[in-house]
Amino acid sequence: MGVEIPETMKALVGNRSIVTRLSNYACSSSSGDGVKVATVPVPIIEEHEILVRVHSIALNPTDFKHIDILSPRGAIIGCDYAGTVAKVGPKAAGAWAVGDRVAGATHGGLYTDRGSFAEYLKIPGHLAWKVPSSISDEEAATFGVSAVTAMLALNTRLGVPWADGGEDKGRSTTPILIYSGATSAGLYAIQLAKLAGLTVVATASPHSHDLVKEYGADDVFDYRSPTAVDKIIRAYPTIDRAMDCFSEGVSTAFCADVVRKNRGWVVTLLDPGKTDFDGVKVDFLLAYTAFGAEFQWLPPSGLNSARFHRIPKHCEGSMHHCREYPKP
Ligand SMILES: NC(=O)c1ccc[n+]([C@@H]2O[C@H](COP(=O)([O-])OP(=O)(O)OC[C@H]3O[C@@H](n4cnc5c(N)ncnc54)[C@H](OP(=O)(O)O)[C@@H]3O)[C@@H](O)[C@H]2O)c1
Repeated sequence: MGVEIPETMKALVGNRSIVTRLSNYACSSSSGDGVKVATVPVPIIEEHEILVRVHSIALNPTDFKHIDILSPRGAIIGCDYAGTVAKVGPKAAGAWAVGDRVAGATHGGLYTDRGSFAEYLKIPGHLAWKVPSSISDEEAATFGVSAVTAMLALNTRLGVPWADGGEDKGRSTTPILIYSGATSAGLYAIQLAKLAGLTVVATASPHSHDLVKEYGADDVFDYRSPTAVDKIIRAYPTIDRAMDCFSEGVSTAFCADVVRKNRGWVVTLLDPGKTDFDGVKVDFLLAYTAFGAEFQWLPPSGLNSARFHRIPKHCEGSMHHCREYPKP
């Protein structure tokens, strides 16, 4: 029996003019009336998409960054979601059925018909995952942007084998640094690196040391300690890769210092301008590139997806099956 789908829904939408957003960008401010709850049309799915009745969402820093700077007026905010399938397009991959529990991440904050802080969202069938009965909607909603980011960083950039093992390709116990391991992205990265068999060295504030160890870090250092870099190099002389989950201030320099002697490399999450840090290769990634669609922020001259390093072509939109571990 079909589920009745209304024509309109409530959604949280961007509410700032381009002038206010550019001013926020230039002044690092957050002025203006950022969002409002609006009544908007329920998204019309394309044939490869499913419609999701949203039950739970998770928040990410990217949501407020979109609201402050990137989101056009009327764009639906929000990336992470969990819910149930309300409608299935005739060519949607994933063998979805109405009523299935579903979760994932979408590129929220950019489109008037795509975003998770809404009663319904549309998503290509191959970009969502089925939620097992052991996981609540609230938990499922957190396996979104942060989990995608950690997978992209470790599995497609830093040569860490995929967590589901495959043929053990590249498996090793070599150490990896997860800088700011207590971030949401960091906690996923720690778990993925651990599952792949690596020795996980994290940095975190002292109040987060127990947390990162609980998630699998073998060792943890305070990123504010002036001796932390030396201590890590001494304790882990072969360390050659790092994920910088903070990517602000001195964090990338810290990571580069740790891996420099071994001609290692660092993945960052914020500043696309950094590519080399005194001889250490720095590789910026953007989780949105995993969705496989072109996009443009602040048109016509703002950043667009073509600017960013893409994941291997055959992995786009189907990361679970990527078996390529490219070195930058
Ligand atoms: N490029 C991308 O695709 C992408 C994807 C995801 C996230 N991001 C960006 O990555 C950043 C992290 O996002 P998230 O959601 O994972 O973070 P989050 O969960 O919001 O991070 C919170 C943690 O940040 C840590 N922190 C605060 N100040 C710090 C400092 N000065 N130095 C180091 N760590 C500090 C704190 O850890 P302690 O308790 O240890 O102090 C805190 O627990 C955000 O800026 C986000 O926009 C980018």
